[in-house]
Amino acid sequence: MNLIFCSSHIRKHVTLCLKRTYSTIEIKRQQAFQGGGKEKQHAQHNKGKLTARERLTLLLDTNSFREYDTFVEHQCHDFGMQDKKYAGDGVVTGHGTIHGRRVFVYSQDFTVLGGSLSKSNAQKILKIMDQAMAVRAPIIGLQDSGGARIQEGVDSLAGYADIFQKNVLASGVIPQLSLIMGPCAGGAVYSPALTDFTFMVRNTSHMFVTGPDVVKAVTNENVSQETLGGAKTHTTKSGVAHNDFANDIEGLQGMRDLFGYLPLHNQDSIPTLPCDDPIDRADQALDTIIPSDPFKAYDMREVVDRIVDSHSFFEIAPKFAQNIIVGFGRLGGQSIGVVANQPLISSGALDMDASVKAARFIRFCDAFNIPLVTLVDVPGFMPGTQQEHAGIIRHGAKLVYAYCEATVPKLTVITRKAYGGAYIVMSSKHLRGDYNVAWPSAEIAVMGAAGAADVVFRNHPDKKAMEQEYRNKFSTPLMAASRGYLDDIIEPRSTRTRLIEQLQLLKTKSIQNPWKKHGSIPL
Ligand code: HXC
Repeated sequence: MNLIFCSSHIRKHVTLCLKRTYSTIEIKRQQAFQGGGKEKQHAQHNKGKLTARERLTLLLDTNSFREYDTFVEHQCHDFGMQDKKYAGDGVVTGHGTIHGRRVFVYSQDFTVLGGSLSKSNAQKILKIMDQAMAVRAPIIGLQDSGGARIQEGVDSLAGYADIFQKNVLASGVIPQLSLIMGPCAGGAVYSPALTDFTFMVRNTSHMFVTGPDVVKAVTNENVSQETLGGAKTHTTKSGVAHNDFANDIEGLQGMRDLFGYLPLHNQDSIPTLPCDDPIDRADQALDTIIPSDPFKAYDMREVVDRIVDSHSFFEIAPKFAQNIIVGFGRLGGQSIGVVANQPLISSGALDMDASVKAARFIRFCDAFNIPLVTLVDVPGFMPGTQQEHAGIIRHGAKLVYAYCEATVPKLTVITRKAYGGAYIVMSSKHLRGDYNVAWPSAEIAVMGAAGAADVVFRNHPDKKAMEQEYRNKFSTPLMAASRGYLDDIIEPRSTRTRLIEQLQLLKTKSIQNPWKKHGSIPL
């Protein structure tokens, strides 16, 4: 009897203890969900920003988020930090899905000590970077942080260093994406800079190596945060960020859209969606899109839109180096990377920014096996002392390097001009192009007829006649086709169908570059 009483007493006691423990855990969990507290969350909302958790809810599929390290706290005891502990320590980490596909995420919580990076906070990020690499899934970082946690000194610097190191090891293995949604200052900027694509939210996000106060102290310049490192600056001038968005919601939707084009890792198959745009759709408007006047511009963006699956083009860096267009699209449902000269801006000439923009995009596509479709209308590299003195040779070489190195299927359509070195560079047959075609309007020559006549016929008694002869010879794609440098001359309306056929054919393409530790790209 006594024994029975005793065991029921113990059971009750254990149950009570467990209940207490559960409620302590629950309280802690609820505290973590509150981040820095209601007041700080209001302040965040008043700035037009969502909280770290609200952002994850919008980024990921409903109920797909699984959080890690909710209970992690910092271990700092200096400067009164022992009294400033928050469950989760200013960053929310874990994994979830986007369109049903696995992704790892971290979201910095500005309401907790300004989202600053502590040793513990860095370890949370590093843990999910390791997991992302182990299971081969992309990682998205939502940045909103005052940078290294000042109270922790070198420990937080070490945290950043470890993140950089892992960013580099993951580069080319899994896609790494960054969305800047608040401050991102100091050395902290180099983690997003090492990732593949960086998006920013207008007005609320800023990136700079040194802020306005330091700039004033060192260079005596007065500059606002916005001018120094706002979304407009980085998407139009510096090229540090690729795309910008009006607010958090649009930025997160943009990330979801971009994610849909990318394989999960460098050995994954290319995402292919069901396609309701007929693969044999002939677009007659393309037959007349090239103006009869060779000096008149037209919008290459329209050409891209008419060729790819309807509404599938997602342009990357649309406001930077607008003389070249790069972005993801779909052909017959399959992701492709598009690179296209834009005759509307600087006649489509290649300058330094355009070369670097395209080279980086091409290398990303090649690393992740995304086929490249190149549309060519290029009068050459941009002349002038500004470009020469700033290194157009060095920067242009990056584009040459990227195309030469790429082993993915490379499909090229010359719509109009393909002159000089720029003809070679823009994924020509000579750089291992797999399918190189031209529209009847193509002109493939060392330079335009007038320029050529000025050089080689300047003393000729009938310079005009010679210029015309040069024009007749090279203002058609026939000469290049007769040498086999073009695989065909096609009707513009059939471009979509031809490209889709070739993509199917090239699915089993397999070529390897010679073994090397790594190349020495002219950086
Ligand atoms: C610790 C920080 C912090 C930091 C902000 N906070 N940054 N705590 N370390 N780096 C805290 C603030 O003390 C404040 O705490 C809370 O976060 C919100 O900050 P506010 O200043 O009130 O917010 P706001 O006015 O919006 O200004 C945001 C800010 C500013 C522009 C980011 O806080 C700022 O300038 N912070 C310092 C930025 C910086 O210099 N970081 C170091 C960069 S160097 P309370 O308790 O008052 O709410 C770096 C090196 C990396 O990161 C090296 C890698 C190699």
